[in-house]
Amino acid sequence: MRTQVGIVGSGPAGLLLSQLLHLQGIEAVILERRSRHYVEGRIRAGVLEQGTVDVLSEAGVGERMRCEGLVHEGIQLSVHGRLHRVDFKALVGGAVTVYGQTEVTKDLINARLAADGQIAFEAEDVTIHGFDGDQPRIRFRQDGRRRELACDFIAGCDGFHGVCRQSVPQAALTIHERVYPFAWLGMLVEAPPVSDELIYAYHERGFALFSMRSPARSRLYIQCTPDEDLDAWPDQRIWDELRARLGGETADALPTGPSIEKSFAPMRSFVAEPMRFGRLFLAGDAAHIVPPTGAKGLNLAVADVRVLARGLAAFYTSGRTDLLESYSATCLRRVWKAQRFSWWMTSMLHRFPGRNPYDDRVQLAELDYLVSSRAAQQALAENYVGLPFEAEE
Ligand code: FAD
Ligand code: DHB
Repeated sequence: MRTQVGIVGSGPAGLLLSQLLHLQGIEAVILERRSRHYVEGRIRAGVLEQGTVDVLSEAGVGERMRCEGLVHEGIQLSVHGRLHRVDFKALVGGAVTVYGQTEVTKDLINARLAADGQIAFEAEDVTIHGFDGDQPRIRFRQDGRRRELACDFIAGCDGFHGVCRQSVPQAALTIHERVYPFAWLGMLVEAPPVSDELIYAYHERGFALFSMRSPARSRLYIQCTPDEDLDAWPDQRIWDELRARLGGETADALPTGPSIEKSFAPMRSFVAEPMRFGRLFLAGDAAHIVPPTGAKGLNLAVADVRVLARGLAAFYTSGRTDLLESYSATCLRRVWKAQRFSWWMTSMLHRFPGRNPYDDRVQLAELDYLVSSRAAQQALAENYVGLPFEAEE
């Protein structure tokens, strides 16, 4: 088997990359460890920056997103049960779109398969070779048979636990990491949203986030300790905790309904530098992780593959290599700003058990400053709706 770009992983990064390359007439094959059903059902992020919406539209997968996505021109911050609105439109003239990662994934898979794009689901034991030279190869097993894919470039879009980053010699990568002393418990429910906008809540009992997927479905998150047991969290306990943390009128008005899914998300900040090693390019969660509080993970994955697709297009159309050479530096400028914002949102809104009470007082002052300062809210809004893409050329 041979192709131009071998892509490992069919999350948002791998799928969007293959779609963008297809539009440039570049061939790619995706190798994915899981089944299509599993990939389409994995519930994760929900907030798309305007730039992400634009890239998906330009990639020809924006139709359903434009119909079903919910455009939000602000968020609510709840501090001890009091709501404060951050008005994105008034502060920075922007908005975000609430549209689940599951739907982005389905739209991309449908588009790829409709155009005869190649996605090998349930590809086992993927290993990558020769990417430090000019004949990279990907080996894998499918239907019990060993196979090899020869390619010009490998895109490592295989998420945080994938094989690509781990295949780079340790000495060639610098790892920056921070693990937080808490996790999120998420629950998707069949219940209409209590509010038109997302509510990010700070409370003495811990952080809570009220989000949504549609006018009939809500997505709830609460801060919990890492490594908890899902069995210890029946629905009623989650609703009670959410109500306590949202407080005020929101708690009284909260519609409830049956749960569809529940899961834990660990909280980690992580960057592997550089994002390119020879003919291997890491993109999305394979290269970096942010805690979900700033809603940046999926958006960063999209920003990476936009840069990579442009670099590969310049290479195949005119033999230019400069955009591929600057891929890592270009991406990392955005990545580190998203790291900063996600760390800041996380630090401001969560309870940190057992730390110096001085830090808790500074945190309360930060929240107090934010809800009373237009300048501070403008900085939040600018980052939340998404910083502009840099020009690479
Ligand atoms: P992924 O979506 O992880 O895709 C990687 C793909 O590679 C997967 O399909 C995987 O099966 C495949 N793969 C892995 N290893 C191999 C292998 N060896 N061989 C072949 N294929 C392989 N972000 C937010 O903004 N808000 C959230 O609420 C939020 N919640 C999250 C909850 C969880 C549990 C996780 C893990 C992430 C969450 N994120 C959230 C982050 C966001 O979902 C990710 O940033 C986004 O999925 C990144 O896309 P990706 O394509 O880079 O990686
Ligand atoms: C959602 C997830 C986030 O991490 C976030 O900051 C906002 C919304 C969500 O899943 O809806």
